[in-house]
Amino acid sequence: MVETSYQPLTRINSYIPIFSELEIQQLVEKYGSPIYVIDEYTLRKKVATLENAYSTFNGPVRVAYSIKANFNPAVLKVFHSEGIIFDLTSIGELEFFLRTEGAVENVIYTSVTEERPEYETVIKAGVKRIVVSSYNGLVNLVEAAENLGAQVNTMIRINPEVGVKAEVRASYRHGKFGVPFNGNTVDSATNMIRKIIATPSLKFDGFHFHLGSQIEDPTCFINALDKLEAFVIKMRKEFPDLDIKILDIGGGTPVFYGTPVPMPEEIGLLVSGKLNALSEALSSRFTVFIESGRYLAAEAGLLISKVVNTKVYGGQKFIIVDAGYHLLLDAALLHQMYPQEVVPKSDKVEEMKLNLAGRLCDTYDIFPASPASNLAAAEKDKLVVFRNIGAYSIVFNMPFHCQTKPPILMRRMNGEIQMVRKGETIEELFENEGGKLLENF
Ligand SMILES: Cc1ncc(COP(=O)(O)O)c(C=O)c1O
Repeated sequence: MVETSYQPLTRINSYIPIFSELEIQQLVEKYGSPIYVIDEYTLRKKVATLENAYSTFNGPVRVAYSIKANFNPAVLKVFHSEGIIFDLTSIGELEFFLRTEGAVENVIYTSVTEERPEYETVIKAGVKRIVVSSYNGLVNLVEAAENLGAQVNTMIRINPEVGVKAEVRASYRHGKFGVPFNGNTVDSATNMIRKIIATPSLKFDGFHFHLGSQIEDPTCFINALDKLEAFVIKMRKEFPDLDIKILDIGGGTPVFYGTPVPMPEEIGLLVSGKLNALSEALSSRFTVFIESGRYLAAEAGLLISKVVNTKVYGGQKFIIVDAGYHLLLDAALLHQMYPQEVVPKSDKVEEMKLNLAGRLCDTYDIFPASPASNLAAAEKDKLVVFRNIGAYSIVFNMPFHCQTKPPILMRRMNGEIQMVRKGETIEELFENEGGKLLENF
């Protein structure tokens, strides 16, 4: 948990126990372990909650799904049917979006690489709204748009350089993303607005920022919006008609992983108040985009694994499951903790320190325990369920130690279980890794 002086009025302090013990056991009997399971109802519910959280903003609000959190095609289809917009970052993501019948008018394209051929592909696909994050990227966009005779609604990704109290920060000074308001090089919002306004093929649409992920203290939004207000007022001296049509405030809505987090309604109320003040101060009626990957996807997913071994060493017990960080990379990379529970439950109390370990031969393959975890009953052949793993987990699956990707199941709205990704076989993995290219080797 991040230290913060912000005192939330609300606290989410438990996870939603989607799937009963019996359902979890039945899923493993039928499909084996490890398996990922996603609940469609929870995905939909999260969209409604996030939209509602910003309902006190005086203008239009659109929720955008950050596809990087979980690009499973079935998840995308669920979100398409909710009518929300999508935050895409690569041509591959655009392909997934289009192949799942997403409507191009629902895309905000925010590239990191910003190459000219990339922009040409995106514009040819019909995408109309692009966020630029560097001067070179803007030049590439101008060339791509002129080459294709297209008009592009262009937003600038700013780095407001505000302190963010979160595990993952994206707007620190000298960071990789976006441009500062002012700066000593061409890479500044001041300079890029001038260029956009001077370019007939581009239309200035507004600003984008993304402060970080799992933001438990929303003060950073207030500070970023204050800085933006001062900047727009300053720029209006040069361009009196400068207006914001879209203001994209990025992601960051937090999820419960073991320590209390404020409810999205609390964050939404606070930030909406500031957005209303900004809209009034600038006499501007903009649309707000709220991007989210984690909040929309995390709580709908669980990973079910099986205890395959245990050992006691130095007065501590090691519980070894058939999962590993190849299935939950953030556990190793960011020490991300997930609530873990044993199925079936028991009242057993364990005196020894418990360590939950994965199947990989790597020191980092130990899952951090969450305060919401209870592993006391863990013993061979029982199940260990990881909760709230629907975001930033499946997308990182990797074949370290020749591990195959497990299946993904989705519980549909009618309660039926549908497989939405087949488990990979060892033959498929061997082939994909070059096994079939050995004939003339
Ligand atoms: C530009 C942008 N927007 C939104 C998000 C989603 O953030 P979160 O999943 O924390 O809501 C990310 C995540 O990295 C991002 O890079």
